[in-house]
Amino acid sequence: MSPQPRVAMVASEMYPFAKSGGLGDVLGALPPALARRGAEVSVFLPAYKSLLQKGGFVPLNGEIPDAFGAPEVRYAVFKGRYEGVQVYAVRCGELYDREGFYGDDGGEYPDNALRFSRFCRGVLSALEGMGSPPEILHCHDWQSALVPALLKARRGGSPAWAGTASVMTIHNLGYQGRYGSAEFQHTGLPPEAFGIDGVEYYGDLNLLKGGIVYAEVVSTVSESYAQEIQTAEQGQGLEGVIASRAGDLLGIMNGADYSVWDPANDPCLAAPYSREDMEGKAACRRALRTELGLKGGGRGPLCVMVSRLASQKGVELLLATLSDLLWMGLEIAVLGTGEVGYETALRRAAERHHRQMAFRGLFNERLAHIFFAGGDLLLMPSRYEPAGLNQLYAMRYGTLPFVRTVGGLASSVVAHKEIDLERDTGFQFQGFHPAEFLWGVVRACRAFEDKDAWRRLAWNAMSQDFSWDRIVPRYLELYDGALARRAARG
Ligand code: ADP
Ligand code: GLC
Repeated sequence: MSPQPRVAMVASEMYPFAKSGGLGDVLGALPPALARRGAEVSVFLPAYKSLLQKGGFVPLNGEIPDAFGAPEVRYAVFKGRYEGVQVYAVRCGELYDREGFYGDDGGEYPDNALRFSRFCRGVLSALEGMGSPPEILHCHDWQSALVPALLKARRGGSPAWAGTASVMTIHNLGYQGRYGSAEFQHTGLPPEAFGIDGVEYYGDLNLLKGGIVYAEVVSTVSESYAQEIQTAEQGQGLEGVIASRAGDLLGIMNGADYSVWDPANDPCLAAPYSREDMEGKAACRRALRTELGLKGGGRGPLCVMVSRLASQKGVELLLATLSDLLWMGLEIAVLGTGEVGYETALRRAAERHHRQMAFRGLFNERLAHIFFAGGDLLLMPSRYEPAGLNQLYAMRYGTLPFVRTVGGLASSVVAHKEIDLERDTGFQFQGFHPAEFLWGVVRACRAFEDKDAWRRLAWNAMSQDFSWDRIVPRYLELYDGALARRAARG
């Protein structure tokens, strides 16, 4: 085995320390998988209040000065460990000492440009202080996207960085870190970086754009999304910038961490079960219905949805077809937080139809596990979906995913027009339209009536292997590509 590169990941989430969605899951699984392959991996996170409260982090000695020209700015670094990975939490005054990661009930924090600029500056300052920088700086989404630009700026002043290549992974183009030009002052970048070839975007600061422009290589979380984001329809205004990096862009589908998501070994469940012995799943279904107080239906599958309530996730389609679905005798359980309008509509519907529908407006890890285990059908009608992890978890729990054919959903769920009992692992629909969504659910309900067929499909779904250990070689290839490009640039 060739020696693996030393990798430092920079991100705003990592399970189990800080998670608001799939980004946290990826950071909780990919670094340990790389470590199992022999790579030396560290992860840098903001020192959120909740993270430090969880315990296990110890402060490193001394404060670290800012390497980007602000003598009054100081960082403190805390060290922890998770599954063979060194985890560092960077503190900068009170900037991350808040209830939320990115915002609270009042919306996004108004100083997020400052918060995450400082985070990126703090990471590079800390790495310099620690000596011997990593060969790969792997950044995830807009919160860490300033790192490639800062790295470029820093190479001139500090030869230690000459061999370090940066990798920018896009998990979701819907969030770019776009702010007014006045916020550029927080970045620590030289003035020339605020231009069309840098972090400027139509007169604004666009952090993600900077990451895409400056990183040695760019990746995203599925092969299909890598194609989609080069089009005007899905590029969210950055399609031109992304297409200009097409030669350096790779799509790598996410995996699932089966040490966390496995019904045979899941402390949250009422009873364990596996592909070979499905008895426990019936107990999990009963437990979920009891916990949620569901007493209606009985005629169709128990449909579950576990989701951020954002327009990305296609909540409209569920709301638009709700009365039909309930009339068909289905039970529906939604676990999610997000936009107030969706929460209110779902809560009202659940109050009105409490025998058949339940809504839990919480972010709760245990509930997510029992929803996946207790459901029959997972609804995931996303408008767009870079990768999606829920459908992977649902499959492992023998809950068939019903997904829209978009992004990572299209490639991870197998479904044919005529159900193929040998190969299918779920159901799909194409057009983002209530009628198509409803028709798809009707087809799934029909399949549900044939218990043997349904069991066979669940067997297929549970047999899928999306483990990270199979994906890691692709990331190592990506890192090789980044290092080769860095070496070529001199
Ligand atoms: P995204 O990252 O776009 O939100 P993914 O499917 O990649 O979508 O990942 C979502 C992750 O967040 C999964 O681990 C899912 O279980 C979790 N999740 C979403 N909403 C909730 C919630 N309300 N409570 C607990 N976990 C949730
Ligand atoms: C994003 C995407 C989701 C993906 C996750 C992790 O939040 O919306 O599709 O699975 O990141 O990569």
